[in-house]
Amino acid sequence: MLRVGVVGIGFMGMVHYLSYQKLRDVQVTALCEKQQKRLDGDWRDIKGNFGPAGEQMDLSGIETFTEVEDLLASDVDLVDITLPPALHADVAVRSLAAGKHVFCEKPMALKVEDCQRMTKAAEQAGKLLMVGHVLPFFPEYQWALQVVQSGQFGKLLGGSFKRVISDPSWLANFWQPDQVGGPLLDLHIHDAHFIRLLFGMPNSVSSCGSQKNGLPEYWHTHFDYGESGPVVHATSGTLRQQGRSFDHGFEIQLEGATLAFEFSVTGDQADYHCPPTLLAAESKVEYPQLPDGDPMHAFAAELGEVVASVQRGTSIEILDSALAQDALLLCHKQAESIQSRRRVEV
Ligand SMILES: NC(=O)c1ccc[n+]([C@@H]2O[C@H](COP(=O)([O-])OP(=O)(O)OC[C@H]3O[C@@H](n4cnc5c(N)ncnc54)[C@H](O)[C@@H]3O)[C@@H](O)[C@H]2O)c1
Repeated sequence: MLRVGVVGIGFMGMVHYLSYQKLRDVQVTALCEKQQKRLDGDWRDIKGNFGPAGEQMDLSGIETFTEVEDLLASDVDLVDITLPPALHADVAVRSLAAGKHVFCEKPMALKVEDCQRMTKAAEQAGKLLMVGHVLPFFPEYQWALQVVQSGQFGKLLGGSFKRVISDPSWLANFWQPDQVGGPLLDLHIHDAHFIRLLFGMPNSVSSCGSQKNGLPEYWHTHFDYGESGPVVHATSGTLRQQGRSFDHGFEIQLEGATLAFEFSVTGDQADYHCPPTLLAAESKVEYPQLPDGDPMHAFAAELGEVVASVQRGTSIEILDSALAQDALLLCHKQAESIQSRRRVEV
């Protein structure tokens, strides 16, 4: 039985806690949170943009701590970090030094140097460091990854990726560069990671867009893979209007097929603008039947892989910290490109 300590009982801490309850061979044995009422089980004021509303929880049998150090002295095998991004690196390094495996929510950290510090700590401790990039566990992205990796439609020629939300002005510190990092590190990092997973690292990025509080606000990026490489593009950011709280999608080109999908929440309507669609040779159009897109299922699948990775002793590629660090680097290169209005080598 793998013993897990979850650090940070906010929206993601609750999602992870609930997801572990659906899995075998794992038990949340400890929680760490600075708000005492959450340790007393009062999660009624926790809310996010999916999943169940927070409830009064029965946490009997679970050790609770307000200080990370005390959780690290307990017998947990894995520390699951669902803290605000600015705290990820320090808590991960301390957890690894205490001999714990670490699973950390995205973004891995705010700075690449912090990612390097985390990786070094994992190497020194001989423990696993995994990062929660959940997008490839969502049915549409899982489908695309499987189709591309199967090789059945030949070479990958390129792709266009979109992730745009209404400005989440209700999220504390969202526009603070040293706390959350705006839509670049909170939002686009999902696509940066998926692009890295599908295409590898580009030679350079060219981005242009608007800025808010010194952070990219709404922008377009061309990821340059050289003359004969894939052509890759992303549109990301926030809208100043509240009417469309979420929009994401892709169009991925292969030699023998194009994969497309776009989903958005406009007003109170959550719907596909384009259902997952496969355009194949001879005008053939297919609509694959994908599993239920409830994000809670994606998190349960992700955490199932975390548990399996610890049991096996190696992380799967999607959760690999090296990829998460590359995704962060791609984000920072885009910010640099927007600010300098120049192409930036990666
Ligand atoms: N994968 C996704 O789709 C997704 C979605 C939302 C959030 N996230 C990520 O999850 C992480 C957490 O985001 P969230 O929305 O849950 O934030 P949140 O603010 O809801 O929760 C963070 C919790 O950490 C607690 N905390 C802060 N400092 C602490 C400390 N020193 N010790 C103990 N507890 C402390 C806060 O009191 C709060 O309860 C972020 O990295 C975010 O990017 C990922």
